[in-house]
Amino acid sequence: MRFSGKTALVTGGGGRIGRAIALGLARKGARVAVADPVEERAQAVAQEIQGQGGMALALTMDVARMDQVAEGARKGEGALGPIGTLVNAAGWDKVRKEEELWDQILSGEAVYSAAKGGVIAFTKALARYGIRVNTAAPSPTDTPLPQGIIAEGRGRLIEAMPLGQLAHPGRWPRPSFS
Ligand SMILES: NC(=O)c1ccc[n+]([C@@H]2O[C@H](COP(=O)([O-])OP(=O)(O)OC[C@H]3O[C@@H](n4cnc5c(N)ncnc54)[C@H](O)[C@@H]3O)[C@@H](O)[C@H]2O)c1
Repeated sequence: MRFSGKTALVTGGGGRIGRAIALGLARKGARVAVADPVEERAQAVAQEIQGQGGMALALTMDVARMDQVAEGARKGEGALGPIGTLVNAAGWDKVRKEEELWDQILSGEAVYSAAKGGVIAFTKALARYGIRVNTAAPSPTDTPLPQGIIAEGRGRLIEAMPLGQLAHPGRWPRPSFS
């Protein structure tokens, strides 16, 4: 198994896509630190992995909080060994603070897109330090996150997609690990 004996940390691991990735990594033999600011979500996924015979640890971690990231990494490495793989599946679809002000400047979607553009730029910057790093950009996936957009025009959204359907969080991550 490609990840046998290796440790991975998945941020947003309690979310739909994060969960699918965490389970996929565990099936490939990885020990998985499941990090999410919502403790119960992280625990549910860690327990699911353990229930399938894998090794996992739930971490309560907000990636916007440096102290929580450092503490989570320390705990994760203490329990599962050095983290060799980091998957960032954390995210939200709304600007949570000063939403009205943001709406005056940019639409919510523009903020979301700018944040995702930032992830791509950050990925390129890390590569300069010799870190192997990839950014995966999923097509619209059937999770709670895009429900606002889906509710506005599910039919039109699906029509615009080449496969004629929303992606499923349990299906798309698999090829990335093979
Ligand atoms: N669902 C889609 O259509 C779609 C398409 C492209 C990209 N994405 C991206 O994929 C990622 C996962 O999305 P999803 O659909 O599984 O959503 P989700 O809401 O099911 O999962 C997101 C998870 O991230 C966690 N999270 C939120 N803020 C966090 C923070 N500050 N620190 C750590 N974790 C945090 C949430 O608690 C949640 O468990 C997001 O970055 C999203 O933008 C989703």
